[in-house]
Amino acid sequence: MKAQPNTQRTFAVITGAAGGLGRVYSRELARRGYGIVAIDSAATELKELGKQLEAEFAVPFHYYKADLRLEDEIRRVAQQINEHFAVEILVNNVGTGGTRAFEQAEMDYMLDIIRLNVMPVTILTRALLPNLMQRPRAYVLNVGSLSAFTPNGYKTVYPASKSFVHFLSRGLYFELRQTPVHVAVVHPGPMPTNPEIRSRIRKQGRLARWALSDPEKTVRVSLNKMFRGKSLIFIDWPNRINWMLARIAPESVLARFMTRVVRRELEKE
Ligand SMILES: NC(=O)c1ccc[n+]([C@@H]2O[C@H](COP(=O)([O-])OP(=O)(O)OC[C@H]3O[C@@H](n4cnc5c(N)ncnc54)[C@H](OP(=O)(O)O)[C@@H]3O)[C@@H](O)[C@H]2O)c1
Repeated sequence: MKAQPNTQRTFAVITGAAGGLGRVYSRELARRGYGIVAIDSAATELKELGKQLEAEFAVPFHYYKADLRLEDEIRRVAQQINEHFAVEILVNNVGTGGTRAFEQAEMDYMLDIIRLNVMPVTILTRALLPNLMQRPRAYVLNVGSLSAFTPNGYKTVYPASKSFVHFLSRGLYFELRQTPVHVAVVHPGPMPTNPEIRSRIRKQGRLARWALSDPEKTVRVSLNKMFRGKSLIFIDWPNRINWMLARIAPESVLARFMTRVVRRELEKE
């Protein structure tokens, strides 16, 4: 979509904006009056989201269709955003995961997780930082996962990628503390955002259900906490207890237990 320069209003940029959690972030930020710049690979859903948000909240909506696994596409979109929009909020939401035996996983399955979970958050944050710095107060919200804190057989690459998101976010928060840009990371538990994840949660049984996070609540609470200046964000008590457990329980016990839970999920396929 061809964007017109818009320097009057500030915008929230959301990756993976057309579906799942990203769609909820787009909606909630539009409800709060932000202009929306949505990035996703799903063009039809992006257009439909734009129509909804413009009709319901009367905010400007622009979108970029891009495959965020590709460095050139991320750079292209970042450059265009910098040319056209005053950005106040960047939500690095896009991400993917899955459950597979490492030995049997196709190389691209693993590389796609690394590309999508690691590259856009790094490149977009770096590229949009000078833009964000021009606001009196600006925010970067990165979407991690509770799995960032526990090594897990059969998931392997996903928790490793979310550990990256966690450490990137925490380092950047401390580096930028004295600047206008506040960096926060939120770590949700499993969320029934799409049919594949719903089926995975069902197969993992009671444990996954206990740790479950509600997407609407995750978005609302994470934005409220971010605006209040929190930098490490958990949504509710089960969410926080999971994190504390991952910090105090011996890694060998927890990782073995989680690997067993996830293997059960694979056996049900
Ligand atoms: N859901 C959970 O259980 C859970 C738990 C903890 C953390 N998280 C994190 O929360 C974030 C959002 O997860 P979600 O479950 O909402 O994700 P999702 O439903 O799988 O995807 C959200 C959006 O990202 C888009 N997308 C996928 N690949 C893309 C690509 N290569 N380039 C551009 N856009 C792409 C999807 O488009 P398509 O529909 O066309 O693929 C979809 O519109 C991720 O970072 C995830 O790791 C999720």
